[in-house]
Amino acid sequence: MSTHRLPSLLAATITPARVRAGRSISAVICAVAVGAATACAPSEGAVTPSPAAAVASASPGAGASNSTVGAPGIGDPDFPTDGNGGYDVQHYDLRLSYDPTSRKLAGTATIEATAAQDLTSFDLDLHGLTVSRVTVDGGAASFSRSKDELVIEPGRQISNGARFAVTVDYSGVPEPMRDSANLGEYGFISTPDGAFVTCEPNGAKTWFPSNDHPSDKATYDFRITVPAGLTAIANGEMAGTPQTNAGKTTFVWREKHPMASYLATMTTGKFQVRTGTSAKGLPIYAAVADSFHGSLDQLYTQTAKITDYWSSVFGPYPFSSTGGVIDDYAAGYALENQTKPIYGGFSPAPTIIAHELAHQWFGDSLTIKRWRDLWLNEGFATYAEWLWAEHTGQYTADSAFRRYYANAADPMWSYPPGTARADDLFSAAVYNRGAMTLHALRREIGDDKFFPLIRAWTDAHRYGNVTTQEFISMAELISGKNLKALFDAWLYEPKRPAPIP
Ligand code: TRP
Ligand code: ZN
Repeated sequence: MSTHRLPSLLAATITPARVRAGRSISAVICAVAVGAATACAPSEGAVTPSPAAAVASASPGAGASNSTVGAPGIGDPDFPTDGNGGYDVQHYDLRLSYDPTSRKLAGTATIEATAAQDLTSFDLDLHGLTVSRVTVDGGAASFSRSKDELVIEPGRQISNGARFAVTVDYSGVPEPMRDSANLGEYGFISTPDGAFVTCEPNGAKTWFPSNDHPSDKATYDFRITVPAGLTAIANGEMAGTPQTNAGKTTFVWREKHPMASYLATMTTGKFQVRTGTSAKGLPIYAAVADSFHGSLDQLYTQTAKITDYWSSVFGPYPFSSTGGVIDDYAAGYALENQTKPIYGGFSPAPTIIAHELAHQWFGDSLTIKRWRDLWLNEGFATYAEWLWAEHTGQYTADSAFRRYYANAADPMWSYPPGTARADDLFSAAVYNRGAMTLHALRREIGDDKFFPLIRAWTDAHRYGNVTTQEFISMAELISGKNLKALFDAWLYEPKRPAPIP
């Protein structure tokens, strides 16, 4: 849409996807060796609430270990108020209706969680919107708003270890996040016929109250009502046929595998849909805005083919369906929404589809515990583009690596991708130098260790949360090599590493 300002930083960083959409390098092939997955690296504990988050709390004593006040942040050192402490969400049940004309969203969110401490108060994340009522386990709860925190005080204390359900009734015109972390616009973005909903890193709170941080994954039920004639697309699979009554249609979607909040969507508009199954038998849902009707078959076919191929390289596909959505909102970027990546206003080249579908393993099934480890998503997805290019005879990963390496003036050499910066999270360094890290690793340990490592990685941490240290440990375990110097040079040093052999 013409009104959209592509933020300079997003343009400079997310642009990889955009630029690459039109780019082609040249070619060769690679035999992707696949081996048995083994071994599992020890996993670190959950993110612990940071002192910063505790300090940010309105209540005296919050953050102390004996406090009954859930922290307003989950403990991500770079995003201290994202997510919340004191509980772990298992499930979101979202009942929403959206009217594109008034741009009004109205909903009831029920969040099932387990207390991780005694709680007299806890937070959900919510950006704007008006809350009319909150209940906890059916009893009225009082609540207040403070910036993007919805602070809830249940009528009675919740005991450590107890399961509880909090229900929030709310409505209003959603406002996307703007210029947070130099990311431009993301979250719930209204369009003339619906909404384009892309939430990385913390835009889920623009449309539902949540523990909006990737370290707390949960399953989702969506029941979305929109004017008849429109399609509402969420994650997972549709449960039953959409029902139309009195000029409105309700779509029921269910994601039964754990999902990070930033991967949730309720993209809405006029869509043409094609469904079916891939050669390997996986259900596919492809949808395109009317103006992209000519791209539907290609989106469908490539998505099927690439998902099947990645399952032979990365390990079994983690979810129950695959797919993709092309909306006519000209975001210029794509997002790996779980089971259905979304492409914002362009017909994606196969390498971009390969990138977003690789994220289904790297990002969606294996989800980072904190944002500074983002190269585990973007480095892997970018490397997957190179692998797809090799597989289809366009260019080799090695040639891509050497082309980037040759440019001594590339700003990525001063940005160590192992510590993604909150103010420049989606830097090209995280994408390209992250991918180069994997290539340097592959050259060091050989294909006969590298590809089994990747499969062991996706197997050991399927549906879980991961850290860079866990990846390094597993790489050392499987290769039998000390890889500290390699990872230090590629991930953590602010300079161009020595050439690889
Ligand atoms: N993860 C996306 C990709 O590389 C890029 C991205 C980051 C994004 N933040 C976003 C896309 C917000 C849409 C909205 O494919
Ligand atoms: Zn990506």
